[in-house]
Amino acid sequence: MSGFGFEVRSPEEAIEGIKHTVLVMSGKGGVGKTFITVNLASVLALKGYSVGIMDADIHGPSIPKMLGISGSRMYQGEIGITPVVGPLGMRVVSIDFLLPTSDTPVIWRGPLKSRMIKEFINNIEWGELDFLFVDLPPGTGDEPLSVVQELRKPSGAVIVTIPTEVSQIVVRKAVVFARQVKVPILGIVENMSGFTCPDTGKTYMIFGAGGGEAIAKAMNVPFLGSIPLDPRIAEASDKGVPFVVMWPDTPATKAITNIALKIAKKLGENAD
Ligand SMILES: Nc1ncnc2c1ncn2[C@@H]1O[C@H](COP(=O)(O)OP(=O)(O)O)[C@@H](O)[C@H]1O
Ligand SMILES: [Mg+2]
Repeated sequence: MSGFGFEVRSPEEAIEGIKHTVLVMSGKGGVGKTFITVNLASVLALKGYSVGIMDADIHGPSIPKMLGISGSRMYQGEIGITPVVGPLGMRVVSIDFLLPTSDTPVIWRGPLKSRMIKEFINNIEWGELDFLFVDLPPGTGDEPLSVVQELRKPSGAVIVTIPTEVSQIVVRKAVVFARQVKVPILGIVENMSGFTCPDTGKTYMIFGAGGGEAIAKAMNVPFLGSIPLDPRIAEASDKGVPFVVMWPDTPATKAITNIALKIAKKLGENAD
């Protein structure tokens, strides 16, 4: 944990400049949490909000890659560690910026990961932010628990699922987790819901349909919207450019924009 280790402030002081903290979680991996974090954050940054992203995925940090800033480094500033400034001026913190290479695995047990997350909150010079998005690893283990503990009262959680039943089962766990730790659930997002073939215009429901909305209803939580499958999403992610910036005029960008604005409004912002 090079460079870390001095507790110069209380956690309250460390995050007092952050207006809203939004956790992006799901029971499962590979459902698009990181893609959604990056693009919700980008939509709000494009609207003029000051936005930060904390990559709380200690074992599989992928925020830097999706933002085209892997290989960047964080440095010790006057008060704490300074986040890396990414696209659209977003302030980004990830363990990736502390590793010798992006192939270096982090082989840590729970307590060390919790310690790292604590440092990510207490010893980072976050400054003034309208929104801090936290990209969580799958599941309900050490990282989400530590984030909730350290952020004290996160503003809310966005729960990501895909339409399959397998994903629905685990999303229930994320909902129950958020309730148990008393984080308000902003709503469920269904990702990868349907692919419209560019040649024929026909839509194929590759992973099924409506599962996200159904689970939202069954669990009595808001449904925020669905985002279609689009191969250009994977391409933009690999290129390290936020999809909403690279492909502004697409159904997926429209869907993400609506979801981001809904979230901002739920948190009391006058966004449109
Ligand atoms: N709607 C989508 N259409 C096409 N590809 C997507 C979509 N959502 C996510 N992806 C891609 O799927 C992969 C997994 O997404 P990721 O955000 O890393 O998932 P998670 O963080 O939940 O593990 C990434 O390569 C991402 O670009
Ligand atoms: Mg991820």
